[in-house]
Amino acid sequence: MNLIKAENYQDMSRKAANIISAQVIMKPDCVLGLATGSTPIGIYRQLVEWYEKGDLDFSRVSTVNLDEYRGLKHTDPQSYYYFMKQNLFQYINIREKAVFVPDGEEMDAEKACKNHEQAIQDLGGIDFQLLGLGKNGHIGFNEPGAAFEKDTYCVNLADSTIKANARFFGSVDEVPTQAYTMGIRTIMHAKKILVAVNGEGKAQAVREAFFGPVTPQVPGSILQMHPDVTVVADEAALSQLPDVIHK
Ligand code: GLP
Repeated sequence: MNLIKAENYQDMSRKAANIISAQVIMKPDCVLGLATGSTPIGIYRQLVEWYEKGDLDFSRVSTVNLDEYRGLKHTDPQSYYYFMKQNLFQYINIREKAVFVPDGEEMDAEKACKNHEQAIQDLGGIDFQLLGLGKNGHIGFNEPGAAFEKDTYCVNLADSTIKANARFFGSVDEVPTQAYTMGIRTIMHAKKILVAVNGEGKAQAVREAFFGPVTPQVPGSILQMHPDVTVVADEAALSQLPDVIHK
């Protein structure tokens, strides 16, 4: 695991965006796995800036998103599809047909998950997956206890995740209780993985995921077994590392 230390959120965003840019430049027709949440917003902003300057071209890139709330339409402002459009897709020259987010509107969970997994297969797999880390150590929506061998599936969200994500909704009651998410196996099949983390609120999750035992109780810990993982974390997120790492 390659750990890159960043000073703060802005620095983390720039460093992570630099790594993604390198991927797009090295392989212009790459398949990027993308994430939502507060963490990647600064990364996407930076990518848009470089695109506008003419430094990046997304015309041959395909993207697959990690997850989506079950029951939300693409046009719902709380959907992850909408988030991606608002924060990245509308500003860059990505082809609409090259963008894949699990279909939250498809209530047949088996079908929605199969379709997403098929889309990834048809693209030839994920070259580069961007991940955030949940406060409880989740990746995508793989909550503590999730089986490591799962492909895209329908998950019941943990109460703590519903509470954490309520900030994006009017109230906690409006947060969907289920989501479609790439499973741990789907994520682990990505050739390269980049995890971005910031803030003190993630310090415990960082410590447990990257410096503790590999266990389904901390889904992100499985990333220790991946051959090509880079973690970009700011100082606050690294504030609870075991003593031995500081020295
Ligand atoms: C959400 C998403 C994850 C994201 C995580 C952290 O629930 N499903 O993909 O990485 O929680 O979110 P944030 O970046 O807002 O802290």
